This record gives sequence, C-alpha cells and structure tokens, in this order.
Amino acid sequence: MRLTLHFGVTPSLFCAEVITGDPANNVTDAIFSKLGAKLHTRRDHPICILKDAIHQYFDSRFGAGVFAQLDDLHPLVSTEQNFDQVLVPPDHVSRSPNDTYYVNAHTVLRCHTSAHQVDTLRSGKRAFLITGDVYRRDAIDATHYPVFHQMEGVRVFAPADWAASGQDGTAFAAAELKSTLEGLARHLFGAETEVRWIDAYFPFTEPSFEMEIFFNGAWMEVLGCGVMQQRILDGALGGNPGEHRAWAFGLGLERLAMVLFGIPDIRLFWTSDERFTRQFKAGTFKPGGAGTKFSSFSKYPPCLKDVSFWMPPGDQFTENNMCEVVRSVAGDLVEEVKLMDKFTSPKTGKTSGCYRIVYRSMERSLTDEEINALQTEVRSRMVSQLSVELR
Ligand code: DAH
Repeated sequence: MRLTLHFGVTPSLFCAEVITGDPANNVTDAIFSKLGAKLHTRRDHPICILKDAIHQYFDSRFGAGVFAQLDDLHPLVSTEQNFDQVLVPPDHVSRSPNDTYYVNAHTVLRCHTSAHQVDTLRSGKRAFLITGDVYRRDAIDATHYPVFHQMEGVRVFAPADWAASGQDGTAFAAAELKSTLEGLARHLFGAETEVRWIDAYFPFTEPSFEMEIFFNGAWMEVLGCGVMQQRILDGALGGNPGEHRAWAFGLGLERLAMVLFGIPDIRLFWTSDERFTRQFKAGTFKPGGAGTKFSSFSKYPPCLKDVSFWMPPGDQFTENNMCEVVRSVAGDLVEEVKLMDKFTSPKTGKTSGCYRIVYRSMERSLTDEEINALQTEVRSRMVSQLSVELR
C-alpha cells in the first residue's frame, strides 16, 4: 500500500517498511497514517509558528544561521540512535515495547529528538536546533497523543570560550544554557516572565535541569536540559577527550503551543477543520501568544461508554495497550480513556477493570449508531488482542 498522507505531503515510506510483521513490531495503521505529516513544516500551523518563533530567538541572540535549523530528519531510527548513543540504560522504561513503537527489534519510531544529537555532532555541526515528530505509546486524554513534536537544541564550547570566565567548562556551559533558555522563555511568554530551575535527572546530561515558568497563575514545566554527558560528546567529536563541553535541551512543542495559543485539546493540531486552521497565520507570533489566541468553536456533545472486564493473568494487560486498541478503532473520535475502577477478587485472585471511553468529535455530532459500532468493535478487539474476559 502506498502511504496516503495528511495534507498531501510527498510520501516517503511504504506501509510495509513500518508495519513489518516482525514479532517485535507494534506499529499500528493509525500511527502509520501520521508518519510524514510534518506539521512542524506547514507554515501556518501553530506548531510551525512556534518553531519559527524559537528559531527567530536563536537567530537574534546568536546571529542568523549560527544555530543550524534541521527539521527533516527521518523519524525511523535505530535503537542505537534512540537509546544507546544517548546512554539510556538497558533497563530504562522507555525501551519497553509498552512505551515505544518498534518496527523491529533494532528499529523504532524515535521517541525523542535526542536520537539525533550524536549523528548531528558527527556531521560537524557545533550548534543546532532539531525539530521533529516523535512517537510514544501512551494514555489518551486532552494533552496526550501518540505523535507529538519536540525541538532539541545543542551547543558545543571550546576551551577558548570559557577561558576568560574564570569558571570551568561545565559551570560555564550550565550558566550559558540557563541564560539562553531564560531569554527564550521571555521571548515566548513576555519580558516579565518568571522562570525557576529544578534539578532533574536525564541519562544524557550531568548536571540536569528542568525549566519551569509561571504562566496563567501556575508553574509549568517547559523543558529538560543540562550539560551533555562528557562520554557522549567525546564519542561524537573524536579528538581530545574532555576538551570540549556542550549543553543540550529538549522541549515539547504541543504543550507550549496549547498554553500560548489557548488550544484546549491536542487532537486539534491534527484537524483540517477550517474553523481551526484559519485562525493561525505564519508571522503573527507575539510574546504570550497575544497575536494568535485560539477562539474555541462549539464543542459537540461527548458520548460515554464504560467497559468492564477481567484482566488476563500476569502483566499482559496495560493501559497503553488498551489505548492502542481504542485508538486503532476510533482514531481521533476518542477524547479520553480513563480508569473508573479496579479491584482484585480475593476469591479468584482475578483483577477486574472498568474503563470509561469518552467519544467526541472535534468536527461534528456523532450518531448513536456510529458510537455503538465503534464500541462493539473495541470490545471485540479487547477480547481478541488483549485477552480480557468481558463482564
Ligand atoms: N529527551 C528528553 C525527553 O524526551 C528531553 C531532553 C531532556 C532533551 C534533557 C535533552 C536534554 O537534550 O538535555 O523527555
């Protein structure tokens, strides 16, 4: 099958390259249909508007083109690139097929743009911003979608850069990182924006931080960052080990775009409904999203369906697997899947689950027949694919 893409972007992959029949394969048609949509390269799309605003900040702070802007790196990467190169430990949860989409045992849909750090350094670049679609198996609600967009930033320093500072390379890189990202926060959210730094852990950085900003009355986590692990940098650059330093950050574009532009549901990024798309125009960005505030069009009524079942023994049943089934049947008509009740029977030792599925279209009213047909299909696939026993 030739890939039919959203918005008619040139296809670059055949279905059989992604849905392979390999025992490790867990990519679904629903996910395959998103590959190549490249929302971050569609000029008037809010994700692209935000990307452009960040690019503009780096160009104005460092000089045009100092940070290379890459947004066409292929989302299919090796487990080596996605995990090993950035020192994700062998037992880290993100390697689990419950969390990541595997094409086969050695190839995944990237789960973060950090997968490209090392190759991009090896290609000779010393300052860059990489934007791309990333894929994660996850729960279903207004802020989670199995495809979203990240931007990765990296900057390398040579000894001459920090010689005059009186600091060592690591302290210098950390300070320059923080001041760069504080400037970014003010560029995006306004000159008065309050920022705070939280110590964090990432396998690829040491020290590591999260940046939070105070916006609309609450602290919000915006990005993860830190000083790149020296082993990663040394391995990528060759040359004298320990000579250079680098910082890195990674941020999720959807979450930022949702708060900046007032977009209430992550599925809207994927709609072609003109009531959404016509509200965004390239070149209109202002700090705090002032130039581009989304005004909601009428919400259609939700339809709630509960499903109760006995789980198979062991840990075969997971919420991510359940959400994948619901998604593959209902696509973007599902708004939320939430656990309502779970208990283990003392008599049989069996565990019962009850989930509520909220169906709602962003674009139209759904009919009872349509929802009932979806729910019947969900129930039957839960039996055949998840081995549950319906109650
Ligand atoms: N890759 C991380 C994630 O997806 C984000 C991240 C954190 C990227 C810290 C970085 C970093 O480059 O230094 O959650």
